[in-house]
Amino acid sequence: MKPFQGVAVLSLAICVLASTPSRSSQAKSGAVDPGVRGGPPGAGGPLPGLTADETVFFQDGQSRFGEIETVQGDSNDGLGPRFNSNQCLSCHSQPNGGGSSPAQNPLISVATLDGAKDTVPWFIAPNGPVRETRFKKSNGVPDGNVHALFVITGRQDAAGCNIRQFDFLPAGNPLTGQGGNANIIFRIPTPLFGTGLIEAIPDSAILANLQANATLKASLGISGHPNAILSGNVNRSANDGTITRFGWKAQNKSLLLFAAEAYNVEMGITSELFPQERDETPSCIFTATPNNVLNFTTPATSATSNPAVISDIEGFANFMRMLAPPTPAPDTPTIANGRATFIKIGCAHCHTPSLTTGKMIASGSATVPSAALSNQTVHLFSDLLVHHMGKGLADGITQGAAGPDEFRTAPLWGVGQRIFFLHDGRTSNLVEAIRAHKSRGSEANRVIHQFNKVSTEEQQGIIDFLRAL
Ligand code: HEC
Ligand code: HEC
Repeated sequence: MKPFQGVAVLSLAICVLASTPSRSSQAKSGAVDPGVRGGPPGAGGPLPGLTADETVFFQDGQSRFGEIETVQGDSNDGLGPRFNSNQCLSCHSQPNGGGSSPAQNPLISVATLDGAKDTVPWFIAPNGPVRETRFKKSNGVPDGNVHALFVITGRQDAAGCNIRQFDFLPAGNPLTGQGGNANIIFRIPTPLFGTGLIEAIPDSAILANLQANATLKASLGISGHPNAILSGNVNRSANDGTITRFGWKAQNKSLLLFAAEAYNVEMGITSELFPQERDETPSCIFTATPNNVLNFTTPATSATSNPAVISDIEGFANFMRMLAPPTPAPDTPTIANGRATFIKIGCAHCHTPSLTTGKMIASGSATVPSAALSNQTVHLFSDLLVHHMGKGLADGITQGAAGPDEFRTAPLWGVGQRIFFLHDGRTSNLVEAIRAHKSRGSEANRVIHQFNKVSTEEQQGIIDFLRAL
């Protein structure tokens, strides 16, 4: 709570200036979001019960996750030509390594690091969230790709590179990201705690949960059908038809794929999964591509555990796969009541309290199956499905079967220690995040109507329950 206080005061000043709706709607509701839960992070460590070799690879991945990347001349080469940041950890650090956007925006200093001449885009505020952008259209045709914020031009390790930053103007509200250039949309970092358990949930468990309470869900406007672009559909891999589950639109299949994509999209570092540079301007390419590959020649340090041979993307995936979920605060009567109301009014129809991982999940360990990943109850508070969230949240981007207003039910574990909410980070206030579920076309409208009808005390219980997660 303490470190958040200063941020709240600053953001209040900016909100008043820009007269956003943020604070006024809190006044209307009796419930108040007390802000980020204080105390120890309770997240960032390994899953309990890892084997010795799993622990070696977790730690190896963790240190790679924190490495700062450069263009050339270092052990870590290949940053850019275009990039959003220079380190996985920079965007995934609240309340600890592997988390989400921190209180102090790390991108401000990245813009001019090592002689770079980048302008800080208007939606990157010192006390606002890390945001990356996607363009709805480019040159009049549908786009949808991530457009990196920065270029390496001007950096001491990129002499001769002279490409220009994209233009993100006109500006809107820097804190909420609302208003301004109508062609760009934002995404904030999702936390990575417990994602290995999410990866280990079988498709059959997601589909069985989709069928559960179907009549009740339908009566609330929450419906579903596996094989079509309908309400509550699943997002499927275009090639093999299995369920994709990572990212705000559940657009990505696996941690390895996301790691490789992030390495390329966020840092401009190519790998064996993404071998080509996104910008191939010859004067801006300084190292061999793919920038980071397996290391055939590395001698084994021991007969069983040799993390040095794997490439970074595998290291990142190992770290995330064995990263423990957040530890919730101990139950109190208020929190227990809040949980009951959360279930009673229907939040849990999308935010499924728990799913179970497969019986036999392999991690790479000599011990198969991995005890830490197999047969675990995962308290994620998500059905891992995508839902229509209405006009107010729509970002106009289609990814797989997730249409312009569809998003993955955000897993709620760890929200107690999160600072920014919703896919674009438009609010730091949980009451507002809940109210934003309601707009024309949202499957959550009837549930939010119920939320608005219950007593202030019950609403407060839900907020306190969420801040305990
Ligand atoms: C510039 C900030 C930034 C950096 C650097 C960054 N990420 Fe992310 N990360 C994001 C954002 C934004 C999202 C959400 C993207 C989306 O869904 O469109 C995300 C989402 C993810 C997810 C999806 C998790 C889930 O369940 O939704 C994974 C996995 C991930 N990042 C891994 C990494 C790894 C590994 C690295 C380093 C190679 C990295 N990220 C570097 C911003 C960043
Ligand atoms: C129809 C399914 C659905 C229902 C019902 C629903 N949610 Fe959500 N919830 C979502 C989706 C999808 C998102 C992500 C939306 C976005 O980011 O644009 C979300 C996001 C959130 C977030 C923000 C999490 C984050 O990572 O930023 C909170 C908090 C939340 N929901 C709480 C609730 C509560 C409390 C209720 C009940 C009053 C509720 N939700 C009902 C689907 C639902």
